[in-house]
Amino acid sequence: MHNIISGFSKLSKSEKIDWLLATYFTNQDSAKTLVQQYWNSDDKLQKLHDEFIENTITNYYLPLGVAPNFLINDTLYAIPMAIEESSVVAAASKAAKFWLERGGFKAEVISTEKIGQVHFIYEGDTSKLEAFFREVKPKLIKDTASITKNMERRGGGILDIELRNKTEDLPNYYQLHATFETLDAMGANFINSCLEQFATSFKTEALQFKDFNEDERNITIVMSILSNYVPECLVRAEVSCNIEDLKSKDIPNPQEFAKKFKQAVSIAEIEPYRAVTHNKGIMNGIDAVVLATGNDFRAVEAGVHAYAAKDGKYSSLTHCSIDNGVFKFWIEIPLALGTVGGLTSLHPLVKFAMEMLQKPNAKDLMQIVAVAGLAQNFGAVKSLTTTGIQEGHMKMHLMNILNQFEATLVEKNKLVEHFKTHTVTHSAVVDAIEALRK
Ligand code: MEV
Repeated sequence: MHNIISGFSKLSKSEKIDWLLATYFTNQDSAKTLVQQYWNSDDKLQKLHDEFIENTITNYYLPLGVAPNFLINDTLYAIPMAIEESSVVAAASKAAKFWLERGGFKAEVISTEKIGQVHFIYEGDTSKLEAFFREVKPKLIKDTASITKNMERRGGGILDIELRNKTEDLPNYYQLHATFETLDAMGANFINSCLEQFATSFKTEALQFKDFNEDERNITIVMSILSNYVPECLVRAEVSCNIEDLKSKDIPNPQEFAKKFKQAVSIAEIEPYRAVTHNKGIMNGIDAVVLATGNDFRAVEAGVHAYAAKDGKYSSLTHCSIDNGVFKFWIEIPLALGTVGGLTSLHPLVKFAMEMLQKPNAKDLMQIVAVAGLAQNFGAVKSLTTTGIQEGHMKMHLMNILNQFEATLVEKNKLVEHFKTHTVTHSAVVDAIEALRK
């Protein structure tokens, strides 16, 4: 228990590091060197990153890669991806090139509505609460005027507020269920500020509502928070071509390929164990772009997986059809993304990513992200149903294994050449390194 510390956040950065090193590290000098090696040499830039969160001690790098040649609605994009998994960017680039030669990706935003809720407890007559809500609703909206002014000027704002009775699920539990249009902002701060104002006005007005008795007047606000489940903030992306046009170096028999590919997607539609892994592959593409563009990948993950289970059973986010000789593959997902505010206007690499994407608005970004997910899934299912996943995966992983063994440049070149004609497995790489070093 001697490791308990109070007031840690008030220490300076170097005091925090010194305390950590003294408390948990045996080789303090090398740990300190490591921490400092990851500091940016530009003090101002480092300070910017330090101040994103509390108790920053250093930076944690992820590679920022690029998958070029994405043709989306007839515009060509190079897509930025922040991810550590070795095969993801390669697979995305390969899928982009494949579909570039077959008309590219088509994407459309279906809806853009966000949701927030005030959760409260009311002990009393429901019809009186309904009457109170009808009376107070215009005031709830009016009281948020200073928060909504700018958003409304741009064409967004509060769409509606509903009273929802949830007492069948939990005694005395009701909600103010509000919907919002937040345009190019992800909208979390805007929504949460509106909700907290609704809660304050709702509680205050209830105290004065003449038809309530003493108990009814005392509404308990439990919490006010946006929902990351946004089934009405939907985007769809699709690829399609004649089955014969699927023919390529990797697909010698397009009829057989299309049939097996569709079977693989059907399995993910009905089998949750497969659906989770299938969707994980989709999220490889989605999270990487969401992260590179400074958006909240945890929010996206939570919302997307809830959507995958919307019909009561966890299922695939992508679908495939074969009709009249045409192969079609598509995704439909909820994505609450922003291209203004938050990290998007702060992190220099996010600004760089946005410029690379030709300064998208939120709808453009929804389409790009959905396409990245679809492309990733196409690449994974194509590999799984043809060569198997390990061939490409291990090829990309080869460099990681060589780095683990601190291979020199000469050794790397020799071994990369060797594994062009040999199967990469961990033990095969170890054997080859040992043989080379003998
Ligand atoms: C690995 O990160 C992702 C895959 O497992 C996805 C899939 O199985 O579809 C290859």
